[in-house]
Amino acid sequence: MANSRAGNLKTENSFPQGRLFQITDREFSAFRDLILREAGISLSEGKRQLLCSRLAKRLRHFGFHTFSQYYDYLLTQDPKHEERLRMINCMTTNKTDFFRESHHFNFLSQHMIPQIRQRAFCGGVRKIRVWSAGCSSGEEPYSIAMTVREALGSLLGWDVKILASDIDTEMIRNGSDGIYAAERLSGVPYELKRKHFLRGKGECEGYLQVHPELRDLVVFRRINLMDEPWPIHTYFDAIFCRNVVIYFNRETQEKLFERLATYLSEEGYLFVGHSENLSWLSHLFAPLRGTIYRRRKPG
Ligand SMILES: C[S@@+](CC[C@H](N)C(=O)[O-])C[C@H]1O[C@@H](n2cnc3c(N)ncnc32)[C@H](O)[C@@H]1O
Repeated sequence: MANSRAGNLKTENSFPQGRLFQITDREFSAFRDLILREAGISLSEGKRQLLCSRLAKRLRHFGFHTFSQYYDYLLTQDPKHEERLRMINCMTTNKTDFFRESHHFNFLSQHMIPQIRQRAFCGGVRKIRVWSAGCSSGEEPYSIAMTVREALGSLLGWDVKILASDIDTEMIRNGSDGIYAAERLSGVPYELKRKHFLRGKGECEGYLQVHPELRDLVVFRRINLMDEPWPIHTYFDAIFCRNVVIYFNRETQEKLFERLATYLSEEGYLFVGHSENLSWLSHLFAPLRGTIYRRRKPG
């Protein structure tokens, strides 16, 4: 088992190796524009220190003394945008948890899955598609997978796929590995852990790995929600886009939700984060309860 820093937190307001970098107004503005363009992440003036601390390790890596040197490198010496990916990885906030906002998972098992089962019973397809858009290190899509698996009882005859996507390549790698420190699963019921995780032995003691059967239900892909078009050719029964758009400005949020709406099936549900309210997008989504929405019929 490889070591994973799943559920990681990036160092904020700290300078691990002691080196302080100053950023000028011009440099901050250039990075802000680049990050907004690339990732949709909108940094307020108050995030100046955060940007400095998050990118300090990249400057140290190259031996640069100023943010301008790093910016020039990104623009002129990085034709394949490999460093740009690393820069964006540094700027994302990946806080997540298993069964975060548990009422969403209760809704899946008590309402959505029974509805899909009922439709299948009446001649519909035995197929379930869920998208975890902004999945971080995988806790969210695996929580969805466990919920669907448990609610269906048996997967026999069912075609279930959960798309787990994030802009951060490191998170996609962590999610694909599916290895978590045991304390990350402290809130997961014992029975689910026993069924869906393998316990690490020897040097992997203290880690749990997602069982291959559950792992197979989840497809991890790097997808930048700002990219057009998305490499997706299906409609979803549910889209989880939780705690992602809090970093986007209104214009970016509106465009994103307009696009997400077109990827929901007619009966599809949208789940957003606890602090996200879509009442201003009532032409697209009808509120169902709390932070669960239903797509409105177009036209
Ligand atoms: C705070 S985490 C939320 C994780 C999970 N959805 C949850 O609620 O627990 C936000 C995630 O959104 C991702 N993200 C930010 N901008 C993105 C973009 N433009 N495209 C795709 N993912 C993005 C980040 O990398 C991060 O992993």
